[in-house]
Amino acid sequence: MLIGKVPEFKSSEITPREKFLNRRNMIFGGLAAAGLAYEWHKKMPPLYTPSVLAATKLPTVPGKAPVVTDAVTPQGKATSYNNFYEFGTDKADPKANAGKLHTRPWTIKIDGLVNKPQTIDIDALMRYRPLEDRTYRFRCVEAWSMVIPWVGYSLSELIKFADPKPSAKYVQFYSLADRKQMDLPSGFDWPYSEGLRMDEAMHPLTLLTFGAYGQTLENQQGAPVRVIVPWKYGFKSAKSIVRIHFSDSQPQTTWNDMAPEEYGFYANVNPAHSHPRWSQAHERRIDSSVFPRTVPTLPFNGYQNEVASLYTGMDLNRNF
Ligand code: MTE
Repeated sequence: MLIGKVPEFKSSEITPREKFLNRRNMIFGGLAAAGLAYEWHKKMPPLYTPSVLAATKLPTVPGKAPVVTDAVTPQGKATSYNNFYEFGTDKADPKANAGKLHTRPWTIKIDGLVNKPQTIDIDALMRYRPLEDRTYRFRCVEAWSMVIPWVGYSLSELIKFADPKPSAKYVQFYSLADRKQMDLPSGFDWPYSEGLRMDEAMHPLTLLTFGAYGQTLENQQGAPVRVIVPWKYGFKSAKSIVRIHFSDSQPQTTWNDMAPEEYGFYANVNPAHSHPRWSQAHERRIDSSVFPRTVPTLPFNGYQNEVASLYTGMDLNRNF
């Protein structure tokens, strides 16, 4: 399998770009010749891509996730009403400003308490497992929600590959923070960072996400790679990730650091636990209807059967 060869990509950090791309092509050529690459690999976009990438169709397989029958949010709405504070704090800012984000070349550094620390190229990461279509409810702490057909594979696949040490208890995600490409408004401690307990990160629903609506993520959605944790408020789902760090203690995270009484580390969707400034019992569903539509919020965002057992014995009012 491809997996055994990926440590080669360590060189991407220290190798000049042209050489690195050539070497990468050689490596993939070798693997394919050996019959080790997946069939769908051939259907992927070319390896050498312009740095500002237009949305590209992705080959996908049906996802292993609970079926959501709620109407899907129109793509235009999901890509024009966003939170991506690096590009401004208004919901319209990410679409207006994220076009300048360069998503190639892009690498993700894996470090901390793992046996295989390394830097992986985004195109290798995208090819590592078949990309699944998974439609999830996605609920923001600000009480709006969408239903989005995400594309990716379980984060657990990458974690297994990184081979965490037994002492690794938490996974932390760091987003890109680059003043040349991003506005990075003041008042935040950049880079944006989020974290999960190891069992949450290993849960099959936690999606390493490369696309939505059958194509690569738009920049404002967190291209080229983000996580989606569907049973948690949207702020846990970090965008444009450049580093995944494994640690033995609960990591500091952007919103929890800024306002711990408002944004807990766990941030499990919980209609019974109000935000100090508003109720969390209902949500405004963003769908194709013209008029605002409010629906009751479900415990764990409707994924109770799948994830409630992760929190057995925990006081979810204290660990909000
Ligand atoms: N990731 C980064 N890097 N920066 C952000 O500002 N906002 C979070 C999350 N991930 C954010 C982020 C919040 S508050 C939400 S609700 C979701 O992204 C929004 O995702 P969407 O714009 O795709 O709906």
